[in-house]
Amino acid sequence: MWRMADYDLTRRPRRLRRNPAIREFVAETRLHPADFILPLFIADGIDAPREIPSMPGVHQHTEDSLKRICHEALDAGVKCVDLFGVPREEDKDATGSVAVAEDGILNRGIAALREEFGEDLLIMSDTCLDEFTDHGHCGVLTTDAHGNEVVDNDPTVDIYCEMAVAQARAGAHIVSPSGMMDGQIGAIRKALDAAGFADVAIMAYSAKYASKFFGPFRDAVGSSLKGDRRTYQQDPANIRESLLEVELDIAEGADFVMVKPALPYLDVVAKVAEISPVPVAAYQVSGEYAMLAAAGQNGWIDYEATMMEALTSIKRAGADQIFTYYAIEAARACNG
Ligand code: PBG
Repeated sequence: MWRMADYDLTRRPRRLRRNPAIREFVAETRLHPADFILPLFIADGIDAPREIPSMPGVHQHTEDSLKRICHEALDAGVKCVDLFGVPREEDKDATGSVAVAEDGILNRGIAALREEFGEDLLIMSDTCLDEFTDHGHCGVLTTDAHGNEVVDNDPTVDIYCEMAVAQARAGAHIVSPSGMMDGQIGAIRKALDAAGFADVAIMAYSAKYASKFFGPFRDAVGSSLKGDRRTYQQDPANIRESLLEVELDIAEGADFVMVKPALPYLDVVAKVAEISPVPVAAYQVSGEYAMLAAAGQNGWIDYEATMMEALTSIKRAGADQIFTYYAIEAARACNG
């Protein structure tokens, strides 16, 4: 007679881990080159690419080297790049006006890529002022009723709208407001539609934390910031307000919502993935990159395997798209 007790069910877990074939067969999470978004920097006034000291392997690009690396990305199967502009120091001012100018470095970079790649490569652009202001904040400053210097929400959003339209005109497929101003998504959607760019999508930096993991990025863009962004970016202690930010952004017309940074905030990624009716992206930021790069360079970790583990974990948590400075290497690793 058959009896349940004859079967050793305790052996089940390891049965599906026996060899690479079965592990791949049962893998619940698979990375694909099209998952990745490659953040890139184009700098004004340089004639050769410049490596960012705190991000080994990542460069500020000239127009030529930018095109080259985009070809590499496309060849590896990456579908989207996210472009940041690094203006010359002397072009920065209090309102970041070069961010809006047609011949500003970021808009020139977008136009060059759109001309080179057409519809083959999705061009996303950073829609924020911090790279362009001489004080390094993500918006324009004002003095509040108590004499404190603060970032002025609504005039900043007005500039973001102009910037988004300028980027769309230059050829961006997706604009990505990263400044965490209230109401920025709805205002930008309206401005894009009114200017005839209803088909340009918005990647909303919805849950962006005031994170020290952004440290190396400030090197990357030559940021002038003194102080911090705690009055507009989220407090790392909180998750409820992430859900509020995401709900607002979706109601305002976000095509994607994003959580940033990624690895230290996987609980946020998971919660947002549960409630979002639009794709959820996560941004593996400069500090996450720098830590792995430094440990890898010292031989303290297996660099490539750790990178793929981190990316797999971000996707497992619920991210549909992942911003990563490793996009090309990771895509190549996916291709085997
Ligand atoms: C702001 C912006 C930042 C990053 C992306 N967009 C810096 C900040 O908010 O201070 C950080 C990206 C990274 O650290 O990789 N425009």
